[in-house]
Amino acid sequence: MKRIAVMTSGGDAPGMNAAIRAVVRTALEYNIEVYGIRQAYQGLLSSDISLLTSRDVSGILQRGGTILQTARNEEFKTPLGQKKALRSLNEKGIEGVIVIGGDGSLRGAIALSRLGVPVVGVPASIDNDIWGTNMSIGVDTSLNVILDALDRLRDTATSHNRGFIIEVMGRNCGYLALMGAILGGAEVVITPDQCPSMEDVAQQLSDAYTRGKTHAIAVIAEGAPYRTTELMSYLNQHQVGFEMRLTILGHIQRGGVPTAFDRLLATRLGMNAVERMLNNETGIMVGLDGRDIVPVPLEDVTSRMREIGQDYYRMAHMLSR
Ligand code: ADP
Ligand code: F6P
Repeated sequence: MKRIAVMTSGGDAPGMNAAIRAVVRTALEYNIEVYGIRQAYQGLLSSDISLLTSRDVSGILQRGGTILQTARNEEFKTPLGQKKALRSLNEKGIEGVIVIGGDGSLRGAIALSRLGVPVVGVPASIDNDIWGTNMSIGVDTSLNVILDALDRLRDTATSHNRGFIIEVMGRNCGYLALMGAILGGAEVVITPDQCPSMEDVAQQLSDAYTRGKTHAIAVIAEGAPYRTTELMSYLNQHQVGFEMRLTILGHIQRGGVPTAFDRLLATRLGMNAVERMLNNETGIMVGLDGRDIVPVPLEDVTSRMREIGQDYYRMAHMLSR
């Protein structure tokens, strides 16, 4: 193998740049050329692909976002789109692709793999919804952003005897909401997996008021079965004791400087992905299992659902009293 390519795809995640840097510098160490595909599968279709040097990845380790940019692209899901992608790779003489991205991006990686392209996936998504890795790149940074927001909101909530509903991004996965609730000391947590009725939420907030709390925080995952605004108007109509306010964190959770954990994870995964590709281990994602970076078949990654341990829900409820 003489020439590989790397892309970042799906929602950007802090640490993607650290992973690109690790891929490029590891490959160069083995005398392999690395091409950067700009804007993910979209750039693959339009052949927006260019050589990356060691200098191109200087000074990016600590930067959020992705220097290769990212995009979502529907055409790549079609047989014709995939044919165009194969043609672009052949034109450039690219023999393998490293896909850094979330579960959708890894489905795209499988499509490439089924066309005979050697592919290694690197899990990167703030949602932490990818099966086969304990943590994905970006999760730790995003969680720290959530905690910073929760701490700030508690300061103002306490000063005014208020309750806050905080909506946390995370697509259909409740991981960030649940961990945010546990580590930010929230009174209520609402996720797609465990969703108390609005009546129960009102009761829990009202109990917190009766117990003498000076604030109450309910963290709701964006993928929860009811909308945050519906919950807010329900609570306003049912007098829980606290005057309620609403904050939606949204894309703030995706930006910023990657934490030490994310930089290390991204660096290890990027390096491991290249070494496995050179060792002909392809059609896989590299994931974190305990302290080890391990290969996981892409077929398993994209056909299984990652579950959040029930014990975390118990912890959230027990410690919110
Ligand atoms: P993420 O990777 O963050 O989960 P998406 O789900 O939006 O983000 O997926 C990113 C891109 O991956 C999509 O825009 C599309 O180009 C590609 N993709 C997603 N699912 C498939 C699929 N089933 N087949 C081929 N490509 C896919
Ligand atoms: O997958 C990452 C993510 O940030 C999800 O948490 C969220 O639902 C989605 O992407 C938002 O996508 P967009 O950036 O297209 O608004």
